[in-house]
Amino acid sequence: MARPQARYACQQCGAIHAKWTGRCDGCGAWNSLIEELPRESPPQGRGKGGLNHRAGRLLGFVGLTGPSVLPSRRRTGIAEFDRVCGGGFVPGSAILVGGDPGIGKSTLLLQAAAAIAPPPGELEAKPAIAAYITGEEAIDQVRLRAERLGVAASPMLLAAASNVRDILASIDRDDGPDLVVVDSIQTMYLDTLDSASGTVSQVRGAQELIQMAKRRGFVLVLVGHVTKEGVIAGPRVLEHMVDTVLYFEGERGHQFRILRAVKNRFGATDEIGVFEMSDRGLVEVPNPSALFLAGRATPGEGADENEPAGSSVGHLSGSAVFAGMEGIRPVLVEVQALVAPAVLGTPRRAVVGWDGTRLAMITAVLDTRCGLSVGTNDIYLNVAGGLRIVEPAADLAVAAALVSALTATPVPADTVVFGEIALSGDVRPVGHTEARLKEAAKLGFGEAWMPIRRSKAAGRSRGAEAGLATVAIGHLSELVTRLSPQRAPRSRSLREVAP
Ligand code: TYD
Ligand code: MG
Repeated sequence: MARPQARYACQQCGAIHAKWTGRCDGCGAWNSLIEELPRESPPQGRGKGGLNHRAGRLLGFVGLTGPSVLPSRRRTGIAEFDRVCGGGFVPGSAILVGGDPGIGKSTLLLQAAAAIAPPPGELEAKPAIAAYITGEEAIDQVRLRAERLGVAASPMLLAAASNVRDILASIDRDDGPDLVVVDSIQTMYLDTLDSASGTVSQVRGAQELIQMAKRRGFVLVLVGHVTKEGVIAGPRVLEHMVDTVLYFEGERGHQFRILRAVKNRFGATDEIGVFEMSDRGLVEVPNPSALFLAGRATPGEGADENEPAGSSVGHLSGSAVFAGMEGIRPVLVEVQALVAPAVLGTPRRAVVGWDGTRLAMITAVLDTRCGLSVGTNDIYLNVAGGLRIVEPAADLAVAAALVSALTATPVPADTVVFGEIALSGDVRPVGHTEARLKEAAKLGFGEAWMPIRRSKAAGRSRGAEAGLATVAIGHLSELVTRLSPQRAPRSRSLREVAP
């Protein structure tokens, strides 16, 4: 029999070429073609002469309405995890969990697998079977970790394997597992492919695992690594193939971790789950704001309005609490700024947890529109707790921290700040006002400095509902006036001022 004709597949876009070229015609990527040998027998319907029309079955078209069975979900019992998945795992679905090495993916999934398959006697219903297949660690390592996490009693099936064929053969059975975790897809290979490269093999391997999950109705969780650029290593095709893509992220040196849904065919993508890495694994954080504000004096507790400035923690100048949103969850974080006279010709800028370009813009607006001279100083800006803020709504909080640092006037300890700043210095409204105010009220804050809301009557009642005094700031100069009345250049009248 003749050797099947070799073909070349692009690792980036999956395009198939008959000949090797340096550059893929499909996506323009260089050096991405890898030789592979096609299957021994072509799949049905795709004979030598292209699509065979006679081999196709007629589709039974249906309307949009009709009886549909809502997917019954399988909860892990880890509330933060279930929420991000849209209320639990959907049987027959495939989930890709990405994240930097060492962030805690294996820990999280071992905990989730143990939670879905609790030790006998803990649940009356028939317990689920979970299988954890590791291609990265030895059995002993996983056992040690399970011991440490306190889940060693779970009747989980554990195996160390990296051959996709072996895995498929072991789980293709009627009494097979309900949850299969494959850690990680980068370590998996298919021996029927001749290609030396891991990526093509990964995609095919993942494809076969996903097909099996759909056929057998189990939940498949694939772990994937993330590259420096923040995409899952290997071809993007992997992200298209699965039903749900979750990213597990966090800052090194900080304890908190955020699980974020970036794609979900069975739920919303703006949900996040917050965890804290402890010595006994990941612990859910139901109230992230408290975590991020930890170490700061709680409003109404230590900080007293009559105390001299800087006398208590959280009452120092250069700090403002930002009422932010992570997806649809409100999260309060402290923005800290330090402004010092520049020693060298070019002032230094050091930003942690925020965008440096945006900081440059805000200093420029403060200088040009409010007559301050912030820009000539060294500026250090830090978002406490290690969170990365990407929302433009943080502009006003950053400006408040900067002006407060410059004028050595503390922002009142029970105040939260949010709003987007335009180049004109106007403060623009931002979304989710109500959620931000509610969260601030819940944590004991009494006042919010925020943009003017379009419908004032509605705004006032909403603010009052949340139990917060709202101070509308229409222009950045009004914020400057609040923080240093004597410096205010062209003081605009304050609208709706709560003294
Ligand atoms: P791991 O789950 O192996 O990360 P990943 O699979 O994403 O590469 O997590 C490794 C890190 O987590 C490691 O640096 C140690 C830390 N860790 C704890 O702090 N506490 C624990 O209980 C466990 C199991 C791990
Ligand atoms: Mg791991």
